[in-house]
Amino acid sequence: MKQTESKVITVGVTGASGAVLAQAMLRLLEADARVARVHLVVTEAGQRLLATELGITAQDPKRLPTLITGTDASKIEYSPNKDIGAAIASGSYSVDAMVVIPCSVGTLASIASGTSDDLLARAADVCLKEGRRLVLCVRETPLNRIHLENMLRAQAAGAVIMPVIPSFYHGPKTIEDLVMQYVYRVLSAMGLPQEKQYRWTGKPENR
Ligand SMILES: Cc1cc2nc3c(=O)[nH]c(=O)nc-3n(C[C@H](O)[C@H](O)[C@H](O)COP(=O)(O)O)c2cc1C
Repeated sequence: MKQTESKVITVGVTGASGAVLAQAMLRLLEADARVARVHLVVTEAGQRLLATELGITAQDPKRLPTLITGTDASKIEYSPNKDIGAAIASGSYSVDAMVVIPCSVGTLASIASGTSDDLLARAADVCLKEGRRLVLCVRETPLNRIHLENMLRAQAAGAVIMPVIPSFYHGPKTIEDLVMQYVYRVLSAMGLPQEKQYRWTGKPENR
């Protein structure tokens, strides 16, 4: 049966390390037949990390979806983080899930305290108040008590905390293997299960 394009997803990218995770996520969403629209918000620090880790810089940030994915990014709509009037800032606009990947502990703190002071934090706050799926791919180590308490607070409000911690039992041979298996799991948690996600069957498979 042909899958229909219906899902609307918000992707937030912050200044935590791991820009490659956002890139993998956006490429998979752009190619996913189940996805109709992706709203992309990148914090100022997120733009810096895209430049530092992937060499991606854009005079006009509206070009970021194309530069990040290397495609025409026809499904991905970029919104400036200052645009608190964007569609995703309102609960009346229907979004199926939001992911913040990677999620800095600074943005985690904003979300956990409900400040809603920029579009990314507001869109996340809207997901929580509307009971929609919000996945936070927090990246920091080691974690202090403030980070841990903020994760607990966000989780208690409905967020799914998926720290950037790779798995090793699928026998990864490259960094790409680690990245992709992590991102597949995040997509599954967002309601977009992935055929290529490794699933443990009780014993190691032949590699
Ligand atoms: C190269 C680099 C790596 C960073 N890595 C992390 C990180 O892994 N986790 C984190 O929480 N912050 C990290 N930071 C710091 C954040 O970018 C900084 O706290 C920023 O204010 C976060 O802002 P944002 O949440 O609005 O993106 C890093 C900064 C730089 C320049």
